[in-house]
Amino acid sequence: QGIIEKSKVKGIPIIIDAVSIFFISVSGLTFKNLFSKCSYYIFQDGLWLISQQPSLIQGYQRAILTPNYMEFSRLYEAMLRDPVDSSDHHGCVLRLSQAMGNLTVVQKGERDLISDGEKVLVCSHEGSSRRCGGQGDLLSGSLGVLAHWAFVAGAEKTNGQNPFLVAAFGACSLTRQSNHQAFQKFGRSMTASDMVSEVGTAFNKLFET
Ligand SMILES: *[C@@H]1O[C@H](CO)[C@@H](O)[C@H](O)[C@H]1NC(C)=O
Repeated sequence: QGIIEKSKVKGIPIIIDAVSIFFISVSGLTFKNLFSKCSYYIFQDGLWLISQQPSLIQGYQRAILTPNYMEFSRLYEAMLRDPVDSSDHHGCVLRLSQAMGNLTVVQKGERDLISDGEKVLVCSHEGSSRRCGGQGDLLSGSLGVLAHWAFVAGAEKTNGQNPFLVAAFGACSLTRQSNHQAFQKFGRSMTASDMVSEVGTAFNKLFET
């Protein structure tokens, strides 16, 4: 918790999912050196912590939350004192982002829903039917790298869009593309590290054509 406060003072981007909190504080960050260069903490449950003490992160627009549907529902109920409206997923993601003070929320699922309190983006880039353990870490990690890049590049490079929203969309697409490529090669025996091996080519395919 002390680390969160310090990062906020320094304006450091933070990525929070159920098992980890990333603090993105270095220059020259790439996919290869991600885990050696970033501060990466395994929390018992980062999202649980936030649902208990939302004020830790509320209003800090350089934070990105990446809950799955279950974690999202729990956080939503804690923040809005209302159950999730299952007929309006978009609206729920938007409202949770607003309730948290417009920080970026990525609801992971069959389709990823991303909101910054103003817009909702849907990422349904082709993946595969298989999700493996550790896929969430790949998403958080690539989100860390892309958020850092987008943030350093500034809004003129992201066409005036919120750089965190753009980064989140990119990271979701990248994770899905890596999943898709690894599934093509390994089928149902694919693991998260097979996906990580595909990140480089997935990145080229998506962003460097
Ligand atoms: C969040 O974004 C919405 C939509 O752009 C805006 O109306 C609202 O004032 C913002 N809230 C904060 C805390 O920035």
